[in-house]
Amino acid sequence: GNGVAFIGSGSARLTTALSNDDLSQIVETSDEWIATRTGIRQRHIAGPAESLQSLATAAARGAIAMAQLQPADIDLIVLATSTPDDLFGSACQIQAALGAQRAVAFDLTAACSGFVFATVTAAQFLRNGVYRNAVVIGADLLTRWVDWADRRTCVLFGDGAGAVVLQAAERDRLLGFELCSDGSMNDCLTLSYQGESQPLAGELTVQKGGFQPITMNGREVYRFAVNRVPEVLEKSLFHAGLATEEIDWLILHQANQRILDAVAKRLKLPPERVVSNMAKHGNTSAASIPLALDEWVRAGKIKSGDKIATSGFGAGLTWGAAIFEW
Ligand code: ACO
Repeated sequence: GNGVAFIGSGSARLTTALSNDDLSQIVETSDEWIATRTGIRQRHIAGPAESLQSLATAAARGAIAMAQLQPADIDLIVLATSTPDDLFGSACQIQAALGAQRAVAFDLTAACSGFVFATVTAAQFLRNGVYRNAVVIGADLLTRWVDWADRRTCVLFGDGAGAVVLQAAERDRLLGFELCSDGSMNDCLTLSYQGESQPLAGELTVQKGGFQPITMNGREVYRFAVNRVPEVLEKSLFHAGLATEEIDWLILHQANQRILDAVAKRLKLPPERVVSNMAKHGNTSAASIPLALDEWVRAGKIKSGDKIATSGFGAGLTWGAAIFEW
C-alpha cells in the first residue's frame, strides 16, 4: 500500500502540578489573570529524577502497547522536541531505553509545530515503502528553559510527552497536510543558545554556547496564530477533499484557549468538537497535540474512524496542519 494508519497513542504521566496560585507566590500574577487570558489553571513540572528521555520513552511505550507491537518491530523513531537532554539529540537515548534496536532514530525541531512536522515526515517513509512501523514523539520540558522571573512567559508553559504509532497501510489515513515556515518573524519567539565570547589564545576568541530563556512577543504570536492557523487548516482540508463539518475533532496546539476559540469560530466548528486540556497541562509545546489526542482516545471520546484536524504553530515561526483518520 501507499498509505499510513494511526494505530496507537501514549503519553507520560507527570505527578507534580504547579497551580496558578502556586505561581502567584513566585511572580506578581493571579489565577484570575492567567485563567481569563489563557485558560490555563495548572501545569506539570518534570522532577529532578525525570528527563526528556524518560518521559518521551514512557509516552512511546504506551503508544507501542496500544498498537500491539513490540519495540523490536519499530523501524523509525522521530522525536519532535526543542528541549533535548543532549544537544546532539535525545532520540537515540529513547531508542536504547525502549529496546528498539532496529529503529533509526533522530530529533526534529520545529517548536510547537514539531509534532505535526514529525508526523508528516515519518508518514513519507511509510508511504514510500521504506519502513513499516514508526513512532512519532512530541516532548518538551519548557519549564527548564523559562525565566521564572518573567511573568509574561513563565505562567504559560508546562512539561509533557505524547506519542503515536504509524504503520504502513493500504488505505491512507493521512488525508491532507500543509507545512509552513516564516523565518522573517523569528524574533517573535526565541530560546537562543547564544553564549558569551571567551578569549581562546592571543587575539582569538570563541563564542561559548549558553542559553537565553524564552522571549515572546505575545501580541504578535497571537495575531499570527489566529490568522495563519485557520488558513492552513482550510488548505489541508481542501487537500483532503473534506468540508469543515466532516471533522469530528479539532486538536490544536494547546497554547491558549482564546486562540482555540478564535480558530474554531473562524472555521464554524462547534465547541464540543474542539479538544482542550490546557487548563490541566498549560502549553507543553511539541507534546501538546499527542498528549491531547491520547487523553481523548483513552477516554473513549475519539473512536476508530473519527476524522481529526490538527494544527501546530509556534517558534520559527512554523505552522502546519495534518488531517487524519483515527
Ligand atoms: N500576570 C499578571 N499580569 C501579567 C502577566 C501575568 N502572568 N503577564 C503579563 N501581565 C501584564 C503585563 O505586564 C501587561 O501589563 P502592563 O500593561 O501594565 O505592562 C498586561 O498584563 C498586558 O500584557 P500583554 O502581554 O499585553 O497581555 P495580553 O493580553 O497580550 O496577554 C498573552 C498575554 C496571554 C500571552 C497573549 O498575548 C497571548 O495569548 N499570546 C499568544 C501567544 C501564546 O499563546 N504564546 C504561547 C507560547 S507560543 C506558542 O505556543 C505558539
